[in-house]
Amino acid sequence: MSKHIDDFRRAGHELVDWIADYFEDTRKYPVLPPIEPGGLARQLPRSGPGQGEPMDRILEDFYKLVVPAVTHWNHPRFMAYFPSSGSPPGVLGEMLSAALNTNAIVWKSSPANTELEGVTMGWLRQWLGLPEEFFGIIYDTASTGAVHAIAAAREMADPEARLKGGARGLVLYASDQAHSSVEKGAIAVGIGRENVRKIGSDAEFRLKPDLLRRAIESDLQAGLKPFCVVATVGTTSSASVDPVAETAAVAEKFGLWLHIDAAYAGPAAILPERRWILEGAERAHSFVLNPHKWLLTSADLSAFYTRRPDILRRAFTLVPEYLRTGQDAVATNLMDYSLAMGRRFRSLKLWFVLRYYGRDGVMEMLRRHIAFGQRLAGAVDADPRFERVAPVHFGLVCFRYKGTDEQNQKLLDTVNATGKTFLSHTVLNGRYVIRCAIGNFQTTQEDVDEIWALVRSSAP
Ligand SMILES: Cc1ncc(COP(=O)(O)O)c(C=O)c1O
Repeated sequence: MSKHIDDFRRAGHELVDWIADYFEDTRKYPVLPPIEPGGLARQLPRSGPGQGEPMDRILEDFYKLVVPAVTHWNHPRFMAYFPSSGSPPGVLGEMLSAALNTNAIVWKSSPANTELEGVTMGWLRQWLGLPEEFFGIIYDTASTGAVHAIAAAREMADPEARLKGGARGLVLYASDQAHSSVEKGAIAVGIGRENVRKIGSDAEFRLKPDLLRRAIESDLQAGLKPFCVVATVGTTSSASVDPVAETAAVAEKFGLWLHIDAAYAGPAAILPERRWILEGAERAHSFVLNPHKWLLTSADLSAFYTRRPDILRRAFTLVPEYLRTGQDAVATNLMDYSLAMGRRFRSLKLWFVLRYYGRDGVMEMLRRHIAFGQRLAGAVDADPRFERVAPVHFGLVCFRYKGTDEQNQKLLDTVNATGKTFLSHTVLNGRYVIRCAIGNFQTTQEDVDEIWALVRSSAP
């Protein structure tokens, strides 16, 4: 057996044990690493080694140097950003996709990739209650999904743009709470930031459809071309849910592409009691949710669906001669539906996750997190020194100390400096707000209670 395979086998066994211990003992690490910028880079050589090094030395540096510089997204008390809910079965799928190293450019370049992607996206679509005609494809992130949605919307509104370039007066609409990736997508597709209208939201941070309608009418009067609306189900700051059906009605009235960004909260629609969040989603042209946010799947894996794969394909297909195959007429070639030609075998990890936990296991986890969120919301409401700033439909709780922004910022810094948790902040209604995003598969009620106790004891 060759040395490098022998080394792989030995180190691989050691690492699987390390990973299992990591999942078991994540709590022993500080959530945020206590290091300053440059703290890791300074300890590493400035040039790569001329000669190969023994695997043991590489592992030693991983344990001693890299791990202490990691922010532990998999820590049960990591509650800063929408959590990457990696899970052991997902890691196994990821391992295999690295080993196979296949690339689903066209069906023939690895039939398993294309077909498993179709199957897992179909299962997820059914669990979410989305219509059967929705075509699913996996991208790396929801930001990439936004670029694809906006490019497809442009293709629908202005098919000549593909040939001639230019945005030619196109205008995109999203609420003032929409994720920055929407605006970035508009930049990337050449729409321009000036042509992104940020529509006002209501007291619960939901897009106001009447303001949307008026903005579109005013742009039409000015001779511009409204072409795309983005509704968000689970906004980044407060997890608010835009009124999808009413937004769809406005989009339909003016013939606009409707994209739904359900990157974070989408999985909650698997629960019958949360299905309402996607009411009207069947009318969307495209839809994105991130299993790497709240569906037990490690980054990166973003699920993108479209009711108009024909338009998405028109926007992106460009086939070089060397990639023409005998199956083109009968098989799906995923490169036709994406900017990237190649794609990792991402569906493997999702397939492992969906099969291992099953729909019941996923629902149990979602319900647990929502219950933790609601109990924390109740605790905030019961403390006269604090106020809750937004409704809690999922695992995200936004609150603030009833004091100045500076006091809230200091409170957040104090809590995070303990290493016991990592919370984040946002600004809502012009005020500094603390966000606690619950979503790790190992988080317990005790974790949430202790974090709240820490916040309370750290307040002025
Ligand atoms: C609502 C929403 N949309 C999109 C994104 C971007 O996700 P990604 O990192 O997959 O691009 C985020 C990230 O938190 C988000 O909260």
